[in-house]
Amino acid sequence: MRDVAIIGVSQTKFGELWDISFRDLITEAGTKAAADADIEGAELEAMFVGNMTAGLFIQQEHIASLIADHAGLTPIPCTRVEAACASGGLALRSGIMAVASGYHDIVISAGVEKMTDVVDPTPAIATASDQEWEAQQGVTFPSLYAMIAKRHMHQYGTTREQLAMFSVINHKNGALNPLAQFPMEISVDQVLNSSMVADPLRLLDCSPVTDGAAAVILCPAEDAHKYTDTPVYVKASAQASGTIALHDRRDITTIDSTVHAARTAYEMAGLEPKDIQAVEVHDCFSINGLLAIEDLGFVEKGQAGPAVEEGITQIGGKIPVNPSGGLKARGHPLGATGIAQAAEMVWQLRGDAGKRQVDGIEIGMTHNIGGTGGTAAVHIFGR
Ligand code: COA
Repeated sequence: MRDVAIIGVSQTKFGELWDISFRDLITEAGTKAAADADIEGAELEAMFVGNMTAGLFIQQEHIASLIADHAGLTPIPCTRVEAACASGGLALRSGIMAVASGYHDIVISAGVEKMTDVVDPTPAIATASDQEWEAQQGVTFPSLYAMIAKRHMHQYGTTREQLAMFSVINHKNGALNPLAQFPMEISVDQVLNSSMVADPLRLLDCSPVTDGAAAVILCPAEDAHKYTDTPVYVKASAQASGTIALHDRRDITTIDSTVHAARTAYEMAGLEPKDIQAVEVHDCFSINGLLAIEDLGFVEKGQAGPAVEEGITQIGGKIPVNPSGGLKARGHPLGATGIAQAAEMVWQLRGDAGKRQVDGIEIGMTHNIGGTGGTAAVHIFGR
């Protein structure tokens, strides 16, 4: 297997983007990533695109062909990758494996979702849960995570304020990210007084509904310096599965797929949680940010609430979490999120993250999950 490097990245503005179509969004992301890597489109050998559900959001399937066609990339192989909100993470992993195996040299892994063209995105998002046992019984994603939050509060004494703190820190970072959907600071009081979505989760505990795309360009590590002076190396790419429905879990406050993927990633990279200097976690709801820092091994099980309250997850803290603003403030265009996380980590490792830069970072991690953890992808990157 060959080592793999990232030589170019991009992210479009995230938000409610009325004036740009699905095909233009992904083409913008791809074009900017190619420019960042200083390559021509003709040099790309394959493309992997993470997308959860264009069929339901914009009534378009066969998007791999659509994108290759619209971006002028035919006849290169273009493959759609779907694993709900982890689609981007798996598109990244597919690209990494294509380069590592020697099948292709220069590969683009991208992600895109256009969610705001439908009046109510909730039923489409709910297809990532177990239809028979969850969605058809009226359970939505906010309510699934609300059950997890209730249980975490009951089992570990996690407080409503600690959940709110996670959103507050995300927005503090997101306010420094010009590509974020909601680049504004919020207070604990604002979270606690925002509208109830699914008890105990309120509006400001939830990631928003987002349009957006992101892309990364990969090549063999040994060739990276031909393209850039600041390559970022893939130290680990891991994926694991978990039960799709919550009722089959041994413990709903632990996402086992995250635990397994993280363990594999640490082994692959020869690293431990203490070696990670910043992490982008999948905080689709504030509770999921707390679970992530526990399941990735940064704090003991049940201790994420106090850890967030102490400030260890802030930029400048022991383990900066979501310097980009995370899913909460940057936005969560489902299939694009895993790629946007990687783009942020590359900017951090290059020292290009502007006002939200984590000082002296050499090693960073991304964590992307599908549904309530039926799929998890964990990547470790290094300078
Ligand atoms: N954070 C901050 N502000 C938000 C927001 C969020 N998550 N979602 C919406 N807003 C703002 C809107 O900009 C709007 O502000 P305005 O009145 O100043 O224009 C206002 O809140 C109401 O927006 P609206 O779109 O009507 O909200 P909604 O009630 O329809 O949707 C949620 C809010 C939380 C239900 C929706 O964002 C949601 O479903 N989020 C979860 C998405 C999800 O499940 N993703 C997959 C996870 S696995």
